[in-house]
Parts: sequence; C-alpha cells; structure tokens
Amino acid sequence: MSEKKQIFPVRHGLQGEVNIPGDKSVSHRSVILSALADTPVRITNFLQAQDCLSTVSCMKQLGAEIDIQADGMLLVTGNGLHGLQEPAGILDAGDSGTLLRLLLGLLAPQPFLATFTGDASLSRRPMGRVIEPLTQMGAHIVGRDGNRLLPITVLPALQPLTGITYQMPVASAQVKSALLLAGMYAKGETTILEPYTSRDHTERMLEAFGVPVRKSGGGVMMQPAEKLCAPEVIDVPGDISSAAYWMVAASVIDGSDVLLKKVGVNPTRTGILDVLRAMGADIQCMNERVSGGEPMADIRVRSAKLHGVSFGAEIMPRLIDEIPILAVAAMFASGETTITGAGELRVKETDRLQAIIDQYTKLAPCIEGQADGLVIHGSAVFSEASCFSYDDHRIAMSLAIAGAAGQGVTIENAACVNISYPEFYTTLHSLMK
Ligand code: S3P
Repeated sequence: MSEKKQIFPVRHGLQGEVNIPGDKSVSHRSVILSALADTPVRITNFLQAQDCLSTVSCMKQLGAEIDIQADGMLLVTGNGLHGLQEPAGILDAGDSGTLLRLLLGLLAPQPFLATFTGDASLSRRPMGRVIEPLTQMGAHIVGRDGNRLLPITVLPALQPLTGITYQMPVASAQVKSALLLAGMYAKGETTILEPYTSRDHTERMLEAFGVPVRKSGGGVMMQPAEKLCAPEVIDVPGDISSAAYWMVAASVIDGSDVLLKKVGVNPTRTGILDVLRAMGADIQCMNERVSGGEPMADIRVRSAKLHGVSFGAEIMPRLIDEIPILAVAAMFASGETTITGAGELRVKETDRLQAIIDQYTKLAPCIEGQADGLVIHGSAVFSEASCFSYDDHRIAMSLAIAGAAGQGVTIENAACVNISYPEFYTTLHSLMK
C-alpha cells in the first residue's frame, strides 16, 4: 500500500447522489451470525471491502459455505450454532479489530483450537480488554506479551464457559459483542455493563436471529441459546461512518448539494448528525424506514456556515470513528472546537489523535493535542502539502476531504481506503464533476 494519491481542490461544490456502501459493523455481524444458522441466509449490500472479506475468509475456514454472487450478494450456508469446525490453518484477521475481538468471543467456548494472526497495525492493538473477561468466563486464550498481542491462540474449551457480570471500563461494542457471542454458549446468564451505550448492532441482529438480548439497568444480558432462527435475507444499511465524509465535504465546500442514499441511522451511531447539526450544518433525513431491525434514511446535505462546538466522553461511542472527519469540519468552521474524552482514538488502526495532530497541521497549523482530545482553531488557512495516512483508512479519507475543500493534498499510502470504502476516490471524483 505504498502509492500516493493527489487530490485537487474542488472548484464548484459537490453535486450528486451517492449509494453508500454497506455498514462495516453490520456486515461483519451478518456473516458471523449467518454462519451459525441452520438455514441459508442471503446478505444484500454486504460491504465487499478488505476488513469484511477477512471475516468471510475466517468464517469459511470455520466451516461455513459462503458464495459471493455476481450481483455482489452473499449467500451464507452455516452448520448451526454448534457446527463450527476446527480451522486447518491460521486465521488471518488482517487489519480488523472487530473481526478479531468478535471471533475471540465466538471461539472461546468451542471445543477446538484456533490461532489468529493479523497485520502490523492489528498486532499493536490491545486485546487484553477482551481476553480478560473471556478468561473470567473460563476461556483459555494465550497471546504474546502477557496475552495481549498477536498471534493469539484460543485453546479448546474442555467444559462450558460460565456466565459472568462484567463492568466494562470503556464503552466498546467489540468487547460487548464478544461477550454476547460467548454468552450464547455459557452456563447461566452473562451480563455486560457499559459506562456509555456503544453501538448495538449485535443485539439487534441477535434479535433478528431469534435470540433475545435482555436490557435492564444499563446492562445487556444473554441467556444460553439453543439455535438461531435465521431470516432469509439481511439487507445491510449504508455505513454512516462512510457517509460522514460526504456530509462534512458537502457542508464545508460552498455550492454543494448531495443526497446520500440508504444510510444506517441507528441512534447508537448518529452522533455525527447531532454534532454537525450543532455546528450549523444543513442536514435533512428523508424516507426513513427500518430493515432487519436497523433504521435507515436518505440524507440530503447542503453547504452551510459551520461554527465550533464542544463535545466529550458521553457522545464519544456514538461517533468514535467520525472524529478524524469531524476534526476536518472543525478546521473549516468559525471559532474553536474542543473534543474531550477521545482517548480510545489512540488505540484504533493508528493513534488517530496523534495522526490528526501531526498530519492535518501540515495542511493548516490550527490543532492542539491533549491527552484525550483536541482543540481546533477554526477558519484555518490551508496550504497544499503531502501527508501520511499511516495506512489508516479513516485518516486517508479525512485528509482527502481536507485537501479537496482546502488547497489540495498528496496522500501517502492512499490505497488503505480499501479497508472500508474501495470506491471512495472514484465517488469523490464523480461528485466533483
Ligand atoms: C466497532 C466498534 C468500535 C468502532 C469500530 C467498529 C464494531 O470499536 O471503533 O470501528 O463494529 O463493533 P470499539 O467497540 O472498540 O469502540
């Protein structure tokens, strides 16, 4: 992934419609749960990007039959809740923290051995946060450097895991989902408590597969499950995290008017809409509907004068992946934006706070870093520069929008957008015409 991409400034605003690619979180979960069903599931609008294709490949190694059909639809035929098979080789989680953490939860209760590897970025990310509670449930998981790092091996469970009550120190949908998946196979109830509610796609999809997830007193509870009753079709909503680039681009580039089609608007993901609206953005949700328990809408965004805002820990799980692009919005807004409670960004695909501080300031020196956040001085004066992506898809796409709305940018290691949005650059060009 070493090639460069040059992005030129947009002259006349962004115009047009975008079919937003499938949600990454929902795509991972759709293929994992379908592989545990007794009946075949068709998945439409599945995100065919690197991270989710790694999940497809792991679930195949675990015994599911998965066909990617000509129209992009996925047909998954599983072997039931207890039908996973021991993989013959090592499971490669690539760059995907979601895949690795969810599958650690799913495989912890299985009677076979599995070893995970992944790329350099994933090898540096903290896995103790999921290994620790799974170990409390009785799982045997060993990894490098005190069980924290890849490669990680899940040893065969010699007896059923035991449900626990677990208070998560940080809100994390990946950890919550891992424990819910493990909880389906455990003795007794598993209760997960989070400081703030993280995305609830696993809970919604388990319900769609006939496995009830109880919610009470700020916790989610899983009882042992017997089988999954799969829907015939799962229609994956468009990813609001991918739509976010066009929301910000259209807001800050004068003369823009874009329609983003079929965007997932699950309330645990719509922090970006709340913050952009608080900044003065012109955003209209239309044609709202629900499919497979997930709400979706078409979203029209027109350019507007943005102003700075402050937000922090409470809203963070609802927009955690959108901080890199919200930081770009703040650079173009008038006044100051203060972001706090964003320490989790330091353990994403790269240290995203540091990446923002080090690279965005090459385009406009207007950002101060703090231990868990950023202060961004708006109405920034931009110049053209060459910036690193650190192979982080969200940093690369945010830099592209900053360059398009500013004075241009050259992005080093630009192909990492393939992790979540392979059509990103072609979509940008089509909106610029
Ligand atoms: C995800 C949860 C979030 C998010 C990640 C996808 C998921 O991570 O940042 O991109 O699909 O569950 P955490 O749960 O670790 O906050």
